[in-house]
Amino acid sequence: MARLDGKIALITGATGGIGAETADLFAREGARLVLADTDDVALKDLAARLESAGAEVLPIRLDVSSGEDWAAAAEAVRARFGVLHVLVTLAGVVDWPGIEDTTEDGWDRVIAVNQTGTWLALRAVMPLLRASGNGSVITTSSVLGLVGSGAAAAYQASKGAVRLLAKTAAVEYATRGVRVNSVHPGVVATPMIQEILDEQGDQQPDVVRTPMRRAASPREIAPAYLYLASDESSYVTGAELVVDGGLTAH
Ligand SMILES: NC(=O)c1ccc[n+]([C@@H]2O[C@H](COP(=O)([O-])OP(=O)(O)OC[C@H]3O[C@@H](n4cnc5c(N)ncnc54)[C@H](O)[C@@H]3O)[C@@H](O)[C@H]2O)c1
Repeated sequence: MARLDGKIALITGATGGIGAETADLFAREGARLVLADTDDVALKDLAARLESAGAEVLPIRLDVSSGEDWAAAAEAVRARFGVLHVLVTLAGVVDWPGIEDTTEDGWDRVIAVNQTGTWLALRAVMPLLRASGNGSVITTSSVLGLVGSGAAAAYQASKGAVRLLAKTAAVEYATRGVRVNSVHPGVVATPMIQEILDEQGDQQPDVVRTPMRRAASPREIAPAYLYLASDESSYVTGAELVVDGGLTAH
């Protein structure tokens, strides 16, 4: 039996580096998928690829920072599947400046997508997760939601908020059939930071600070989501799963 047999999983940011890898892995483990992203073209391509490999996929164009989009998405999932077992929030954007150079627009955009978008997701689909009787939410924070880096002020604030939102939701829903955990990736080679990695390679300061001295491939991150989505983690809630090559170990 596959590890997600019978489960319906919604993934936001599904066409991104970690999102597409997670969608692929979940499909191989038997999940039926709801794939959400703003990138329409990439969404269609990914859905077609997974369907041709035998998966059942419902692609939804959705801006995670829009409550209206979330209401429509929740309704589409209810109409198609009736319930939801897994929510993975991977949609995210980054803004690199520190405190004094961050603009109000930059701040608002990052908080809207990363932080408000995570709460809107939880609010919209929690009734569907509760209806499954066995729901699991995996939010995406970062090592930058655990420790300060001296840059990316808005991003760090948003990822710190995601960490605590997951914990309070874990407590709120612990006896209501939904577990909530956060994943904290370190440096991962995806389109979000590819340009920086291409320019700086192994000399990129966060890579240098990583005891393993390399960035992760998205393939090394997706299994963390699989574990938390599966029933193998049935007693795990409110936890932070750090996947960072040792970056926050020192
Ligand atoms: N790459 C890293 O080093 C790293 C490290 C720690 C945490 N993360 C987090 O992992 C998550 C996935 O990032 P990634 O590295 O795969 O980046 P990515 O840029 O490859 O993927 C992000 C995805 O989110 C989508 N997206 C952006 N804004 C959206 C919105 N408003 N509504 C819906 N979708 C939207 C994009 O279209 C894209 O598909 C993000 O939350 C990111 O902050 C990444």
